[in-house]
Amino acid sequence: MQITYNLKPALERRSEQFNPTTNVGFGNLRTDHMFLMDYRDGEWCDPRIVPYGPFEVAPGAIALHYGQSVFEGAKAFQHDDGEIYTFRIDKNAERLNRSADILCIPALPEQMQIDAINALIDVDRLWFPMQEGACLYIRPFIFATEDRLSVSPSEQYTFCVMLSPSGPYYSDGFDKAIRLLISERFHRAVSGGTGASKAAGNYAASLKAGKAAAEYGAAQVLYLDANNKQIEEVGAMNHFHVLKDGSIIIPKFTDTILKSITSQSILDLGELLGCEVRQETVMLDQFISDIESGKIIEAGGFGTAAVVSPVGSYIFEDNRVITVGDGNVGEHTKRIYKVLTDIQKGLLQGPEGWVQHVKRVHV
Ligand code: PLP
Ligand code: COI
Repeated sequence: MQITYNLKPALERRSEQFNPTTNVGFGNLRTDHMFLMDYRDGEWCDPRIVPYGPFEVAPGAIALHYGQSVFEGAKAFQHDDGEIYTFRIDKNAERLNRSADILCIPALPEQMQIDAINALIDVDRLWFPMQEGACLYIRPFIFATEDRLSVSPSEQYTFCVMLSPSGPYYSDGFDKAIRLLISERFHRAVSGGTGASKAAGNYAASLKAGKAAAEYGAAQVLYLDANNKQIEEVGAMNHFHVLKDGSIIIPKFTDTILKSITSQSILDLGELLGCEVRQETVMLDQFISDIESGKIIEAGGFGTAAVVSPVGSYIFEDNRVITVGDGNVGEHTKRIYKVLTDIQKGLLQGPEGWVQHVKRVHV
């Protein structure tokens, strides 16, 4: 893929506006550039890196009306050698194409996605933040640009990658366990729908539920299946719990649960974590009684943005509260977090190929 570069004048702005040692929050900042590529006449074309800025989009663009748009979330980390490394970026590229397939969007070859991401990180590497837990958050997305109001797949798309120097997703970071609202009113996905994809519309549909969660003092909703029997996942992360014997349980992936790359990593790491990690169907009633009996001692969420987010309590819509253990961050959760983030930061050797060096070409 031959990428064209338009790097001026953005590179000169960076040092004036960006102090890499301040707390940058999650997803607030942008780097100077973005990667763009278009799909027209049946092929992906015109790969380019240009200054970050607004798009020109037709008011009738299909993405704006019918939500034909998918995205990914990945991270890159700076290691002690000063170099930047992506984490399992091949899995994100694969999943973008799975999501694209669910929304009738043409696939974009995975190596092209990875080359695009590496080229963009290379030119914007000076934006790497320095706070604890810092990363360059990578947001690739595809949206339908054809200007047409009939409901059928667009024949034109744009693929964009943008970067956000970021810290933890939840403002309290890892130290404070969050509360989740267990809702019987809101559902994220139904079988046969788009739940297993990162379709933009899934997140629009979660906003009202997020508002309801906040009214209960909860960070997010823990979604149940359509029959309110099984635990599925949270709006931006998979769910897990830890049994007294240290086993980690993640709900089985179905077509209503996003196949989290973080969950898959924890499943793959079983041995390094020194405990059994497995997937099961998790029934809500059993889950609650196991917390009450002390069989379940910790719980939380797994996600790229959320990393490992400890859950200290659950609240039901009738205000009943169930506290997990003593409500604080447990030892198992701390260990999972440390092993995962040490691999990401290059402090611990993970499985072959998980971290990939971003080669220096322009900067
Ligand atoms: N579930 C949902 C609905 C998500 O949006 C995310 C975030 O990407 C996850 C789970 C976690 O997936 P991953 O670990 O691949 O980021
Ligand atoms: C991620 O974890 O990367 C996500 O995409 C979640 C996002 C909704 C913040």
